Amino acid sequence: MQSRFYRFVSPFLVLLFVGLLPAHAEIRETSVWWLPRNVNMFGHAIDFIFYVILVLTGVTFIGVFSVLGYFLVKYRARPGVPAIHSHGNNTLEVVWTTIPVFIFLGLAIYGNEEWSRMRRKTPPADALPVAVVGEQFGWNVRYPGADGKLAKMDAKKVSKENPFGVDASDPAGLDDFTTYNDLVFPVNRPVRLYLGSKDVIHAFYVPEFRLYQDMVPGRVYDFVWLKAEATGKFQLACNQLCGQGHYKMFGKLSVVPVAEYEAWAKGKAPAPAVTGTSSATPVVSNQR
Ligand code: CUA
Repeated sequence: MQSRFYRFVSPFLVLLFVGLLPAHAEIRETSVWWLPRNVNMFGHAIDFIFYVILVLTGVTFIGVFSVLGYFLVKYRARPGVPAIHSHGNNTLEVVWTTIPVFIFLGLAIYGNEEWSRMRRKTPPADALPVAVVGEQFGWNVRYPGADGKLAKMDAKKVSKENPFGVDASDPAGLDDFTTYNDLVFPVNRPVRLYLGSKDVIHAFYVPEFRLYQDMVPGRVYDFVWLKAEATGKFQLACNQLCGQGHYKMFGKLSVVPVAEYEAWAKGKAPAPAVTGTSSATPVVSNQR
């Protein structure tokens, strides 16, 4: 009786669940069933290796399970037919070990090359510097003013009142302005990020940028950069479980034409950013 009930109800539960998935992911502007669109210069290499690995593992999966199925039928137990004992085949084993070794080596070398291109090589000199410091539960963002320079960040000076760890007297920082959970990047211009954390480990994650970087308190990450190739509205999500409010730790991120970015920046500056505190949202409201 009970099992018949579940047999009747379970398809509806599955349908309900599948129907709720897109509703849950409403913020994404493109397909929820496949990769979100890529707008970062570096994303092409990441998507390329994703598809290469998908094809390699897909072909291997089909090959292995086809052979398995074939052998299951061919060597099934039949009355009067004795079992076959096999010692294996050395040539076959050498072949199916050597080929994956070269495939893995190729993937590792390619991945390493791309990683150093994305993170280890110095960002272009004309990159826009933007500091993003995570806290429970939001993003402090700091932009340079007219001089194009950010105040120097020192992880040792980071405190509740000074999330960026800057020196109040630093001349480069006098015209900086800050936002809270609000980022605007110019399109087709490199952006160099200065990432940090005020309290616990957070992670800077924008799927459309194919960009993920953990932010461990006590250090400033100055090697992450990107170049958005298309305009749009995205979400900066925290991707490390950082506390009870983790799920709501996200910032609005827009990529806009350069002129629009400049107008936006002009409207924000010059805030009295001397103390380096976050602007809009009072820091005191954060519970610990
Ligand atoms: Cu910050 Cu999760």
